[in-house]
Amino acid sequence: MANLILVTGGTGFIGSHTVVELQQAGYDVIIVDNLSNSKIEVVDNIAKITGKRPEFENFDLSNRADVLNFFLRHKDIKAVIHFAAFKAVGESVNKPLEYYRNNVNSLMNILEAMKFTGVHNLVFSSSCTVYGQPEKLPVTEATPRLPAESPYGNTKAVNEDIIRDFCHANADINGIALRYFNPIGAHPSALIGESPVGVPNNLVPYITQTAAGLRKELSIFGNDYNTPDGTPIRDYINVVDLSKAHVVAIARLLNGKNKSNYEYFNIGTGKGLSVMELVNAFMKATGVNLPYKIVARRAGDIEQIYADTTLANNELGWKAEVPIEDTLASAWNWEKHVRGIK
Ligand code: WQD
Repeated sequence: MANLILVTGGTGFIGSHTVVELQQAGYDVIIVDNLSNSKIEVVDNIAKITGKRPEFENFDLSNRADVLNFFLRHKDIKAVIHFAAFKAVGESVNKPLEYYRNNVNSLMNILEAMKFTGVHNLVFSSSCTVYGQPEKLPVTEATPRLPAESPYGNTKAVNEDIIRDFCHANADINGIALRYFNPIGAHPSALIGESPVGVPNNLVPYITQTAAGLRKELSIFGNDYNTPDGTPIRDYINVVDLSKAHVVAIARLLNGKNKSNYEYFNIGTGKGLSVMELVNAFMKATGVNLPYKIVARRAGDIEQIYADTTLANNELGWKAEVPIEDTLASAWNWEKHVRGIK
């Protein structure tokens, strides 16, 4: 019997790609998702890719009783990967209580139920947003966290601290937080990808929707930053590479290779790209001429951040592999699949 992994938020962007990689690595998967920001068809598409349909349950993880009941019904879970969370930076500024109630209570319910039912391993979806605008680049795991730019970002920092403290209090619970940089792209099958609801906040889905003709042009939020071409720099990581980091983290915990019972790793490419460089790379990779204009800066944006991934490379034996052009082409192929564009 293969090890059963619970993936919360498993019909979401990173969650769905991670379910595919887990199944292809030989794990069985059960997804819990309340479909507040994703569709049940994602489960069908995962099955089309892997030939195995993950189990699925739809309920709200912020409901303490439902979470405990779930764990009592699934005593064979060997580890949890926790993605489920609200994640819109701008929305979180307007709805802080919803974000804290959902993102923090869900995690606490999961930790409590794990303890109660004897599930020992958790991988948590964290974010480079916990670093704010770092003084020194690239950021390592020793780089101090700075106050988050948004309630969303603060829920990631708070949740890291909750896991750290819970693992400190419970030697039999092992946690790993993966601090993602900017996840982009889609599975090469073009059957799963990023499906933002409404107008995309993030750069790459806005680019692909512009390329598909859904948006008139891309607005580039400011070119007066202190960077080589004036546009902000980020570390854009392929979503399949990112998903593979979760499989490696799970194996580390199941095989007892973790060096302490709470660890955290930067998961990026180690390379910074400016918005302009990414736009040019998209046009080169796809042959699409992308209309864009420079507009004012977006409030809350930091100037630049990219990862030092030495720890993940050495400790996890994981490294980002997909070149940016292939990643951008995969995002475009996904968009064309969704829009029925040949
Ligand atoms: C990237 C760059 C924008 C849109 C956020 C969250 C992070 C994670 C990823 C959830 C910035 C510029 C963007 C556009 C633009 N979220 N941009 N025009 O802000 O780095 O990170 O999303 O897990 O936690 O903080 O990502 O894609 O929004 O922006 O010029 O229409 O693209 O100014 O420089 P960001 P992003």
